[in-house]
Amino acid sequence: MPDLSVSDPELLTTVPAEVTAQVGMDVLTHCVEAYVSLAHGRMTDSLALESISGVWTHLERLVDDPLDKIAAEEMSLASLRAGMAFTNAILGATHAMSHPVGGHCDAPHGAINAVLLPHVIRYNAEVCADGFVDLAGAIGLSTDGNARMVADRLADAVAGLGARVGMPESLEPLGVRVGDLDRLTTHALADSCMTTNPRRPQAAGIRDLYAAAL
Ligand SMILES: [Fe+2]
Repeated sequence: MPDLSVSDPELLTTVPAEVTAQVGMDVLTHCVEAYVSLAHGRMTDSLALESISGVWTHLERLVDDPLDKIAAEEMSLASLRAGMAFTNAILGATHAMSHPVGGHCDAPHGAINAVLLPHVIRYNAEVCADGFVDLAGAIGLSTDGNARMVADRLADAVAGLGARVGMPESLEPLGVRVGDLDRLTTHALADSCMTTNPRRPQAAGIRDLYAAAL
C-alpha cells in the first residue's frame, strides 16, 4: 500500500486508449471484488459503489475521447475510490486467477480481469448474489427478478462493457492454453486474494472457470 498517492487526471489524456480501457476494467474489478469480499465493511462498500457508478458512466467516454477532461477526472476519482476500497477490503477470485495468468503469459492485468470477472460473478453468485444486486443497481441495471438473475445480468453487462472498450472475449488471445490450466489453478488457489473470495474455492471449480474463460 502506498504512503502517498497522487491522482492527476491530465496524465490520462496522453495515455493510449487501450491502456485506459484495460486499467478501467481493472478499476471495475476492484469495485466488484471489494464489495463482495469477506473483509468488506460499510466504508469500503460506499467507496466501491460510488466508484463503479463512475466507471460505468465515464470509462467508455474516456476511451472514445482521451481529451475529455471531465471523463478523465471522474475515472481518476473512480480509480482512487476503488483503490481505497480494495486496499482495505482486499479482493477475490478474479484477481487470484488473474495474477498467475499475468505472470505466465505477460498479458495486461486489466484485460485478463475483464475476461475473468463475468465468470467469477456467476461463480460467486451462489453465495453473495445480494451484493451483486447492489452493484447492478449502482450502475442502473434493472434489479427485477431474483438475485441470481440480477447477478447474471451484471455479469452480462460487465462482459458487454469489456467488448465495447476493446477487451478480448477469452483468455486464448492473451496466450493461455489448455495445457496451462492445472498450473494456473495451483497458483490461483495459493494467491492471497483468494482468502477473501466470498465462495470457498475448490481446485475443480477454479479450473472449470479458467476452462470456461478459454
Ligand atoms: Fe487489479
